[in-house]
Amino acid sequence: MTQLPLEVYRIDMKYIRNLHHIDDRVFSVSPQTGKDERPFLGVILICNQHKYCVPLSKPKKKHEKMRDKVDFKKIVHNGTLIGVLNFNLMIPVEDAQIQRMDTKIRKHDNRDTRKKKELLKKELEWCNEHARDLTNTANVLYQKYISGENFTARESSVWILKEWNWNVVSITKSYSLLTKGVAQYRTENRMEENAMKVLMINGSPRIGGNTSIALKEMEQIFAAAGVETETIQIGNKDIRGCIACGTCADKGKCVFDDMVNETAPKFEACDGLVIASPVYYASANGTMISFLDRLFYSTPFDKSMKVGASVVVARRGGMSATFDELNKYFTICGMPVASSQYWNSVHGRVQGEAAQDAEGLQTMRALARNMTFLMKSIALGKETYGLPEKEPVQRTNFIR
Ligand SMILES: Cc1cc2nc3c(=O)[nH]c(=O)nc-3n(C[C@H](O)[C@H](O)[C@H](O)COP(=O)(O)O)c2cc1C
Repeated sequence: MTQLPLEVYRIDMKYIRNLHHIDDRVFSVSPQTGKDERPFLGVILICNQHKYCVPLSKPKKKHEKMRDKVDFKKIVHNGTLIGVLNFNLMIPVEDAQIQRMDTKIRKHDNRDTRKKKELLKKELEWCNEHARDLTNTANVLYQKYISGENFTARESSVWILKEWNWNVVSITKSYSLLTKGVAQYRTENRMEENAMKVLMINGSPRIGGNTSIALKEMEQIFAAAGVETETIQIGNKDIRGCIACGTCADKGKCVFDDMVNETAPKFEACDGLVIASPVYYASANGTMISFLDRLFYSTPFDKSMKVGASVVVARRGGMSATFDELNKYFTICGMPVASSQYWNSVHGRVQGEAAQDAEGLQTMRALARNMTFLMKSIALGKETYGLPEKEPVQRTNFIR
């Protein structure tokens, strides 16, 4: 990465807000402080292959008396102080968060805009005249900060120590923000453009039955968190079991073209899958098992790191056995399992009874919250570290 001629950039406010939450030295731009309209402008300097933005601010009265320091530079034009650069507040940025400011004066610009552009132009001219010095300053600071302990040990002058210690927090933290803040920003952006999706499969044949009540409790929480949901009820459909024909291995879909194949692309697109079943004879109901066997067996896409959660609904018994049974679909294909404050179960026999199970419904709400957290964390993890490496699968059938 080479240092190009300096330009003034506007930094994305959402990104600044993210950084402010991690390091409060980064400008607060909260509406509460009335600063949400204030743009974050700065020049971008390259430090060790990272782009850092040094904030460019209006001069304050106190700045007039201040002298240039290793982390602070005054921008002076014809003897007048027109701006200041705060190196100790420089923040890491990437292309996605920066937008170059247009300093060219255009016909339609009003007086105010012209004035601002003229000022920016003068500031920029000064910055480019001093580009070498500014780049050096930023790099010296950067190197000092990331060198950690050595840095304090190396410095002997009390003045420098005091000065540096005061600043250490900001840049050291902002260096670590490069991964944290940027990853969070990318995830949030992705979420806005393309909200997280949870697919919910209801195995019950009863429309508006107890399983639906359990799922609706989760839906509310997802909706509040901006997570999109789609619920597919399969228990009242004619879904046969797997016939082990192996056609799916060639075709990438089930030989029976029914709800299983319709659901497959939705499963592929989702970030999380909830499978909810009424308990029949201490197991998931038959239609649900037929559906899940074929869905999981026939779909060739990578399911790893999609979050799974199973929900069971029953009058009285067989819940934890069914819970274990359902979780096995997730744990054979790299899907992390979301849990709650209790095993994910809701009690009820006749239609609507589940609404009276306060603890069961609370368990559903906690499950949806935990699942949301897990999905977001995984999205962040994927951005930062990528998916875990996969080895070619070894398949042995015990006899060879
Ligand atoms: C064939 C069948 C088997 C059942 N087996 C059990 C069982 O093993 N344990 C239990 O507690 N409830 C059992 N139930 C009751 C249902 O799990 C219960 O009514 C549940 O609320 C149904 O959910 P739904 O309204 O979403 O269909 C069974 C119901 C049926 C129809």
